[in-house]
Amino acid sequence: MAQIYDNILETIGNTPIIRLHNIVPKDTIHEYYAKVEYFNAMALIEAAEKSGEIKPGGTIIEATSGNTGMGLAIVCAVKGYKAIFVMPDKISEEKRAILRAYGAKVVITPTAVEPEDPRSYLSVANKLREMTPNSFITNQYHNPENPNQHYKTTGPEIWEQMDGQIDAFFAGAGTGGTISGVGKYLKEKNPNCQIVCPDPVGSILYDLYYHKKVMSPPKPYKVEGVGEDMLPDNVHMDVIDGFVQVSDQESFAMTREIVAKEAICVGPSSAMCLKGAIKYSEENFKEPKKVLVMMPDSGRAYLSKAFNDAWLKDNGFLPSPLKEMRVKDLLGSSVGPKSVITTTVDKTVIEVVQLLKDKGISQVPVYSDKQIVGILDESDLLRPLAMGTLKPNEPIIHLVKGNLIWAELDDTLQHLSDHFQKGYVALVKDPQGDIKIITKIDLLEYIGELGV
Ligand SMILES: Cc1ncc(COP(=O)(O)O)c(C=O)c1O
Repeated sequence: MAQIYDNILETIGNTPIIRLHNIVPKDTIHEYYAKVEYFNAMALIEAAEKSGEIKPGGTIIEATSGNTGMGLAIVCAVKGYKAIFVMPDKISEEKRAILRAYGAKVVITPTAVEPEDPRSYLSVANKLREMTPNSFITNQYHNPENPNQHYKTTGPEIWEQMDGQIDAFFAGAGTGGTISGVGKYLKEKNPNCQIVCPDPVGSILYDLYYHKKVMSPPKPYKVEGVGEDMLPDNVHMDVIDGFVQVSDQESFAMTREIVAKEAICVGPSSAMCLKGAIKYSEENFKEPKKVLVMMPDSGRAYLSKAFNDAWLKDNGFLPSPLKEMRVKDLLGSSVGPKSVITTTVDKTVIEVVQLLKDKGISQVPVYSDKQIVGILDESDLLRPLAMGTLKPNEPIIHLVKGNLIWAELDDTLQHLSDHFQKGYVALVKDPQGDIKIITKIDLLEYIGELGV
């Protein structure tokens, strides 16, 4: 039957649940399912319209780490409200861009400050609310409408889709709205249904649940939208049966793995939730269970982060074979570096040019008083000659560069590679005490040889 929606808001809800096959442990006794969700912020606005807190033409302000913002931006665009979102600076560029595309203003604040700090996204949102006439702050962290709408909509939707066959529900807590609202509903339907919250390492919620106080201070982490450095009223600890911690490294690895193995492209908070669900279920559930994992947003919002190798590498999340290999492995290989040819600071430019030419090398470490003080390469010689600031018979002493490191035999090749990328050259004493020079090309040859 043909179905035409009157506006985009009518399409919200009824997101699919998908059985997971390839990403779960091969010998698991459990069945894992994912609900690929997208946030419905309509109830927050409708409640405020009913109570008269929002008037036509008004401005909606929200401190958001992304997802609620998306829902609110859509509702505001359809209903003609202005929208201002205040977001911490770790939030991906794609999320900021899409909010702006819906016509919202985006204000960015620092991530690494206390919630009470006047620069925090919560403080800035409150300040904007005071300064903006006819404005309303949706207050998703403390507004009971948030868990309420999950209790009234997402909970029943899940129960129906799973045909009442659900033994465990996993959701990360950002505001806590999802886990508290859905958790309450599922518990009412089946008091044995386990409600579990995966939490990023660095968030304080895990400690607050198990120890009733913060054991280690909150630390910044890169997964967006989940975990907290304060306790929102909307995290209802009483409906939660357990917490499980997941590191950034695990979450980002899982983000890539789930799209590769299940073709489900979701964001890092979804992957965090799945990683936590597998860890917790495999360890704690001794009987077969049907486990549902909440997946709150699409991976498309993270193309510049979780799906960008350079970003993953810069943040230390990419496994690198170079991290396992040592300088001594390179020295012992057939492509290992040659003994070093050196010169001294009193040599003239022309003498060093001749040395480079005769030996077929492009750079040379320079001694002064029996110590290597730096290095010279072809372009260090060519540049001043070409500019006429140096004569061929002048000494090289002023040209010597200090971009040289001494590597240890046990240093990783990753360590060397990081220095090479900053323009350094490495020297190392081999086990016989001979000095060797290691260059980018040595490293490339070695990696090429191994085929890693
Ligand atoms: C990407 C992402 N994941 C998870 C959540 C957590 O959902 P809730 O706020 O209902 O706890 C959010 C919340 O905005 C989010 O943006």
